Amino acid sequence: MKRRDFLSGAASAVATAWFARGAFAAGDDTMPMHDMGKMNGMSSTSGMQGGMHNEMHGGALAPVDALPSGAPLARLRTLVNESRTPGEFRATLLAQPVSRSLVQGQADTVFWQFDGGLASAGKGDTSGPVVGPLIELREGDRVEIRVVNRLEQPTTMHWHGLPVPPDQDGNPSNPIAPGGEHVYRFTLPKGSAGTYWYHPHPHMQTAEQVFRGLAGPIVVRAGDDPLAAWPERHLFVSDLKLAADASIAPNSMMDWMNGREGQFVLVNGAREPMIDVVRDERWRVWNACSARYLQLAFDGGRTFAQVGTDGGLLAAPRDGLTALVLAPGERAELIVRAGQGASQARLLAAQYDRHKMAMSHGSLPPGPSVVLADVRFTPDAAAPTALPSSLRAIAPLGPARAQKSVGFSEAMDMHAMHQPGASNLAMPRGMKFMINGETYVPGRATLTSRRGDVENWTIANGTDMDHPFHLHGTQFQVLSREFDGKRIDEPYLAWRDTINVKPGEIVHIATVQHEAGDRMFHCHILEHEDLGMMGTLRVT
Ligand code: C2O
Ligand code: CU
Ligand code: CU
Repeated sequence: MKRRDFLSGAASAVATAWFARGAFAAGDDTMPMHDMGKMNGMSSTSGMQGGMHNEMHGGALAPVDALPSGAPLARLRTLVNESRTPGEFRATLLAQPVSRSLVQGQADTVFWQFDGGLASAGKGDTSGPVVGPLIELREGDRVEIRVVNRLEQPTTMHWHGLPVPPDQDGNPSNPIAPGGEHVYRFTLPKGSAGTYWYHPHPHMQTAEQVFRGLAGPIVVRAGDDPLAAWPERHLFVSDLKLAADASIAPNSMMDWMNGREGQFVLVNGAREPMIDVVRDERWRVWNACSARYLQLAFDGGRTFAQVGTDGGLLAAPRDGLTALVLAPGERAELIVRAGQGASQARLLAAQYDRHKMAMSHGSLPPGPSVVLADVRFTPDAAAPTALPSSLRAIAPLGPARAQKSVGFSEAMDMHAMHQPGASNLAMPRGMKFMINGETYVPGRATLTSRRGDVENWTIANGTDMDHPFHLHGTQFQVLSREFDGKRIDEPYLAWRDTINVKPGEIVHIATVQHEAGDRMFHCHILEHEDLGMMGTLRVT
């Protein structure tokens, strides 16, 4: 398939000042290339150019060593179940501003975070990592979670990946007003065991609420989990961008364009923690970053196994891996072995090129590798744990009764982007991130499906940068990936709700929705989602 079809399709639908990257038209509105180069470069700090630089890239940031590193990996807080009835989970989550002393000699940093607690009894439990408390559930549980909004803007609660009814899934069309609250109710079906997370999904404010701290992990357990006996460790990875005064920096123009990446990557709320491994372990890893891709790898090439994806266990372990890419929103279950004799390794987010845009023609080089954690292996005498060769049965979805296509496209108006003040708006001017040629319109159905119908979807990335596709309310199966006319079948079955799509790639998935109502699908680079790279699937 030809990528240009998408580009010209998008271009015809918008005004002439808009043009897709890689297809710059030299119109009157187009800024000469060398000027754009100056905007993008670090060469000038004088007068207007300096101000412009700040607007593009943001103001001065706290130094990378402003946050301490090397503390033992923090245990996640746990959301306390207020119900005594077996099979029932009842709790309250407060979304509220909380100040924390983070950087020595600077004012406190104000996060927005989820805290468990009785809404009636004051502030809730704000101790421990900024990460929202872990919600531990079991298949079959009847869940009732009250969310109290103590922010000054509307919010919602979205249960990322969980098969909850559409009207309980925190769609942007169901906001909780500031000072208000809402009780979400759902029952977890058999087969839903897996690694999920929760975060707000308000219209055009998802990115901000998540980068200020509102996100937390969910684990759903099965009664017949073949790995139940393995010691389990949780690594919730998030991103933090701190200004020099230790406040959480707003998004710059570059953040909106490429998705925000801060100078800090946190694991369970802290920078570069220390992990002590004495026996083989099962790790659950969440990529809760707004836009950062995590190419998980140990330095020195230590191998690990993948045993699960977003929606739970694989059919069989994938052993001997040295790297695994988690796109924003994705999760994985890994087996990390203690090995023979004492050793040490660093867990990296190794360099990954997601083809970030420059403010002029072309792409930025990929950022450097980042250390996520330092791991010390001191195996105890126990023999290595045997990993079962099969984990569970996964039946392929099908046959498909309908076909859908989703196309990612983008258009940049460099002139508008370079206007003074453009990035000071709540939403920046001059960039469009689209699905099927349109930005998100609340309430408008982009696609329509019938409940119970298995469908094959193609997700085509007609842009020049990676975008992770995410679909609400269900787990899907990747069938194949197509690039340059070559189609490669996915070598194993897995349940996912988020899948990366590279520039020029087409990913084929099989999916089914079981309940009527509106479901969102979008790019999980949260800035792109807020800018409109989102659609509504209307299930009837
Ligand atoms: Cu985590 Cu609509 O997404
Ligand atoms: Cu989601
Ligand atoms: Cu995107």
